[in-house]
Amino acid sequence: MEGYGRETYGERWADIYDELFGADPADAGTAEAVDLLAALADGGPVLELGVGTGRIALPLAARGLEVHGIDASARMLALLGAKPGGERVHTHVGDLADADVDVPGGFALVLVVFNTLFALPTQEAQVRCFANVARRLAPAGAFVVEAFVPDPSRFDRGQTVRASRVGVDGVGLEVSRHDPVAQSVSSQQVWFTEAGAQLRPVSVRYAWPSELDLMARLAGLELRDRWGGWDRSPFTAESGGHVSVYTHPA
Ligand SMILES: C[S@@+](CC[C@H](N)C(=O)[O-])C[C@H]1O[C@@H](n2cnc3c(N)ncnc32)[C@H](O)[C@@H]1O
Repeated sequence: MEGYGRETYGERWADIYDELFGADPADAGTAEAVDLLAALADGGPVLELGVGTGRIALPLAARGLEVHGIDASARMLALLGAKPGGERVHTHVGDLADADVDVPGGFALVLVVFNTLFALPTQEAQVRCFANVARRLAPAGAFVVEAFVPDPSRFDRGQTVRASRVGVDGVGLEVSRHDPVAQSVSSQQVWFTEAGAQLRPVSVRYAWPSELDLMARLAGLELRDRWGGWDRSPFTAESGGHVSVYTHPA
């Protein structure tokens, strides 16, 4: 999408992000994710790529873990920093493909969740991200990727328009174009009210789990676990998303 940069998502969604995506640590999905991630970190240092407003990083830090977060959006990081416990998360402005944050001995856990790996706009950038993570992981560390399983059948001749909200005071439309060659989807969430229209852009370059596994292998990592969700349910042909754990070979 022309004019869409690495900071666009955060800068354009920050004001409504927590309201929409439930940054409440007591939320069942978030609590399950945090339990699993804390178990994988096993007391060691953590790096979250695309940390956002701290939905996951804050509860991990509240458990006493050393947590670092990188994000391209200063607005998202400002919201994180203003929350209770925000000062416990070490934040860095930067690109998640090239995070240059180090801790002695490497990170026990690096995570990129909520489809955020797909914010990287090319296969090359995603490959670079895996390689960079492999260099920063402790020898027994884990790299966790949470992402959706692509579903090109959502699109009709390369596009789709979906009613995302219909209310007395407004209407929400999701307007998307799909490029199957680039494996990219450019969307606008458009909210119409009597006051006018608000545009919230999202652009992703998606990849199937098998492609992510190859990126991991290129980086010298291997798939250790893949679940259909944070509850460690099996990953099946019906799974709409996955939680994948990559590690250095034993
Ligand atoms: C969907 S949000 C996820 C935030 C948080 N991880 C969560 O689970 O709530 C994606 C985040 O990635 C950030 N982001 C997108 N592209 C990025 C990039 N190339 N480098 C660093 N951060 C990026 C956005 O600013 C946003 O905060």
